[in-house]
Amino acid sequence: MSEARISYQSPGRVNLIGDHTDYTGGLVFPMAIDRYTTIRGTRTTASVHLRSQNEPEPVKFQIPISSPDQVTPSWGRYVAGVAAEMQNRAQGFDGEVACTIPIGAGLSSSAALEVVSALALGDTSTPIECAKLCQRAELRSVGVPCGIMDQLTVTSGIRDHALLIDCHELTISPVQLPNDVKIVVQFITERKLSSSSYAERVAQCNAAEEIIGPLRLANWSSLANITDKTIFHRARHVVSENQRVRDFAAMMCSGDLKTAGQLMIESHNSLDRDFETSTPQMNNAVAVAIAQPGVFGARMTGGGFGGCIVILADITAKVDGWQVRAVNAASQIE
Ligand code: GLA
Repeated sequence: MSEARISYQSPGRVNLIGDHTDYTGGLVFPMAIDRYTTIRGTRTTASVHLRSQNEPEPVKFQIPISSPDQVTPSWGRYVAGVAAEMQNRAQGFDGEVACTIPIGAGLSSSAALEVVSALALGDTSTPIECAKLCQRAELRSVGVPCGIMDQLTVTSGIRDHALLIDCHELTISPVQLPNDVKIVVQFITERKLSSSSYAERVAQCNAAEEIIGPLRLANWSSLANITDKTIFHRARHVVSENQRVRDFAAMMCSGDLKTAGQLMIESHNSLDRDFETSTPQMNNAVAVAIAQPGVFGARMTGGGFGGCIVILADITAKVDGWQVRAVNAASQIE
């Protein structure tokens, strides 16, 4: 009898606006992009053996697994974390992973690896359940207390659409992207969220919520009750960013790209000044991009502290970087 083949792919994502809002149940506006992590192999029983085209050492572990954070080489922790969360539902495989998403660039290479691993391990849950499972796996295996945006975008992407996601209700409203724009990603620097101040930002938002309640429900007057300057700035970013996401989605629907671009620039400035997740190189890249003819707006995207900027431009504009297209969610492939 021939061995059962498995083949799955998972897209990366770029977030057009709404960063550092997901882990307080706010709004985000990402899209899945045409860069992929792929696993191909054969079904086995109680173990995972995965080689990588990008990494020298393969990953091997037995399932069920209870300590995914101990797996070496460390890239295997994302896979093992998902297996650990699936417990007895996880099925083994022997295969190879390939990736065209730049690693550590803020384009969700981690979430893509988690979701494609879930599929390879036999997960058949809903896009929301799979995203939640992968989000738990990331915390358990590499200690990043991330929100749900990345995993949910990877499991729910829709071709030619960005997704307006309410991260509290877990509702997704697809918004068709206008035909006459392009979305360009510019890589600035590699970084690791696990060794960045990401967790500190999450803690600062929690501290704000202890004072004024859920940030997703907060308004300008409630912010005035925060006396600590840093916490106030973090909270102000989140409250203003949620409103920008609402406005941006409306502008994309009505085709007001000029205002949409302006909102991206305001988002970038808020991430730089209030949330302090930008870098001088990213600020410089945004400034250069928005000075180009035909560019509506640009901003840092994702967790920050390095990574990429995203640019919204007229289809005819000349802009450095990779043009990305909105694609469908992770799936089985030929
Ligand atoms: C990372 C996290 C997401 C989100 C972004 C910032 O990509 O994984 O959950 O918090 O940063 O918006």
